[in-house]
Amino acid sequence: MFHSKITGIGHYVPENIVTNKDLMQYMDTTEEWIVERTGIEQRRFVTPGKDTTSSMGTEAARIALDKAGLTPEDIDAVVFATLSPDFYFPGCAVLVLKNLGLVGKAAFDVRSQCSGFISALSMADQYIKTGMYKRVLVVCAEVQSNIMELSTRGRNMAVIFGDGAGAVVLEAHNEQGKGLLSTHIHADGNFAEELLMRHPGACQNPRITHEMLSSEEMLPHMNGNLVFKHAVVRFEEVINEALETNGYSVDDLDLLIPHQANLRISNFIQNRYKLPDEKVFNNIQKYGNTTAASIPIALSEAYAEGRIKPGSLVCFAAFGSGFIWGSALVRF
Ligand code: COA
Repeated sequence: MFHSKITGIGHYVPENIVTNKDLMQYMDTTEEWIVERTGIEQRRFVTPGKDTTSSMGTEAARIALDKAGLTPEDIDAVVFATLSPDFYFPGCAVLVLKNLGLVGKAAFDVRSQCSGFISALSMADQYIKTGMYKRVLVVCAEVQSNIMELSTRGRNMAVIFGDGAGAVVLEAHNEQGKGLLSTHIHADGNFAEELLMRHPGACQNPRITHEMLSSEEMLPHMNGNLVFKHAVVRFEEVINEALETNGYSVDDLDLLIPHQANLRISNFIQNRYKLPDEKVFNNIQKYGNTTAASIPIALSEAYAEGRIKPGSLVCFAAFGSGFIWGSALVRF
């Protein structure tokens, strides 16, 4: 059987920085509230007409390909994860192929929200393990700034989420005990409506009405307290699962990259495991929660900063809308 390893990592974020102070112009909030509750100091929002989910994903993919020493023609498939695709359909994977000038390659779209990177990575890994594909581009990107409402009504979501993209190249290799060691994904749809964007959903008939457009129901909804309570439990479970599956303990970990949901969630997990600061990577302070893109953006920055070296044991873990949660363990 083949194994897969990450051979290239890239990220792209829009240039427009939005600080907590900037948000105070639009809603009743304070810098203190946002930093204390979420750890977020600023985020990036796309400039309308410039960046889209697929264009940012393509930029991140180009960087990842370049770092892997590959050209677009070398890849067999694109797996794209996002909750904010350019179009209702088709998904963004075909748009990345188009942007890269590729015709005839495989394209898959993943809808696992905050766990999108883990799901996409897991899918790509399965295709590589079976020998079906040799090189798969995993791309995650989000434009969330135009889903949220910059108002007091939308403030509980609007202060948390940001825009950006991250990508990795996954390639087949034959070395035992190296590369992607395992992935673990779980879901509980009983909580599907606790963190969701309901409209424009196909279960509504008619799908959109004039009343809906101005109603609060058009905004994403999050039961923040419930998400927090479930997240801290599921993160720990799924990190333990990744370590135990591979015969490791938390002391063996060189770096934990949690989905950048909220700094308080990351800190809670860090404290549970008594991990020192150098073993947990967070950048939510700069980008907010970029949903599917958060782990690959963090991975890209951690790698560039030298926090990951050859031989490093790195765990990715995520929890989010669905509820879906997952982890992946990688030996670099
Ligand atoms: N600025 C100021 N006040 C705000 C606010 C904002 N941006 N958003 C909400 N509030 C207010 C609420 O209206 C509420 O006011 P009230 O007491 O008068 O009713 C008060 O702050 C407390 O709201 P609450 O939702 O209970 O706050 P909280 O302490 O639970 O923090 C979250 C809210 C969202 C930060 C917190 O629940 C959380 O971190 N949840 C996890 C969410 C997450 O990580 N999601 C990512 C998806 S994976």
